[in-house]
Amino acid sequence: MKLRACVIGHPVAHSRSPLIHKYWLAVHGIAGDYTRVDVPPEKIERFFDDFPKSGYVGGNVTIPHKEVAFRKVVEADPVARALGAVNTIWHKDGKLYGASTDVYGFIANLNRSQPGWEKQAKTAVIIGAGGATRAIAYGLIEKKIPNIVVANRTRARAQDLAAHFEGKLVPVALSNLMPHLREADLLVNATSLGMTGQPPLMLDLSPLKKSAIVYDIVYAPLETELLKAARARGNPVVEGLGMLLHQAAPAFERWFGVRPEVTPELRALVASDLARKAKR
Ligand SMILES: NC(=O)c1ccc[n+]([C@@H]2O[C@H](COP(=O)([O-])OP(=O)(O)OC[C@H]3O[C@@H](n4cnc5c(N)ncnc54)[C@H](OP(=O)(O)O)[C@@H]3O)[C@@H](O)[C@H]2O)c1
Repeated sequence: MKLRACVIGHPVAHSRSPLIHKYWLAVHGIAGDYTRVDVPPEKIERFFDDFPKSGYVGGNVTIPHKEVAFRKVVEADPVARALGAVNTIWHKDGKLYGASTDVYGFIANLNRSQPGWEKQAKTAVIIGAGGATRAIAYGLIEKKIPNIVVANRTRARAQDLAAHFEGKLVPVALSNLMPHLREADLLVNATSLGMTGQPPLMLDLSPLKKSAIVYDIVYAPLETELLKAARARGNPVVEGLGMLLHQAAPAFERWFGVRPEVTPELRALVASDLARKAKR
């Protein structure tokens, strides 16, 4: 019998997850499939209720359903509980279970791209205060980074996040970023700015140390204006595509029983798909 998994979102047509999981299914010779399922918000509760009988072994959950998924599972892993969001589901004995692999994806990509980064990272500055920042902040707190600044256009949202993490973050307004940029050893863009169809993140990088790592979690385009500018002045950079690839690995293992590798071949496959779509 074919093992089937899916990505559940709304919209979901843009998702690269099928490309990634189908690549790994082929590499490991598994008779499986991975599809997109677009479920509108008014139908999502019922969809999760019926999931154990759906014929899918599991699924990824993406925007805007991660929080609903968290509420619907009977048990979530510690990371999902800390984030209040689930991006991976599976079922056992008719019951739905969930986990979050976003934190793992963010950190694994950083580890792979800049080994030993945490030794130099005294101050991390994250721009943005949405769902992605929540996962990144959790990962950096776990790594015991002493000073974590969250800079957001809407300062109240950064303050809410700092309250969620019991004061372990310093919330600032994006308009007050400059003094913090000077201190940064790791700078992360976790806003939607820089994405295809969005304005770029306009940032004067001149106060930034040349040794500071610049990590943009936006992956379409592959190299954002921020990464281009950082690379041009000699900063080490980390691209967002690696986060997407790494977060997929534990989910694949959960459903199909094999831990897959994030290889240069997989990266090239997804990168060329992104480039092809960008030209259209
Ligand atoms: N590489 C990966 O695997 C990966 C994983 C997750 C997410 N992402 C990417 O990360 C980005 C953020 O995702 P998310 O889920 O956190 O989104 P989200 O919850 O909607 O948050 C969006 C963030 O962007 C900020 N923002 C939007 N427009 C802005 C503008 N014009 N000026 C300043 N700030 C602006 C928002 O600020 P306000 O609070 O002021 O509105 C908010 O902090 C997306 O591009 C997503 O594709 C990548």
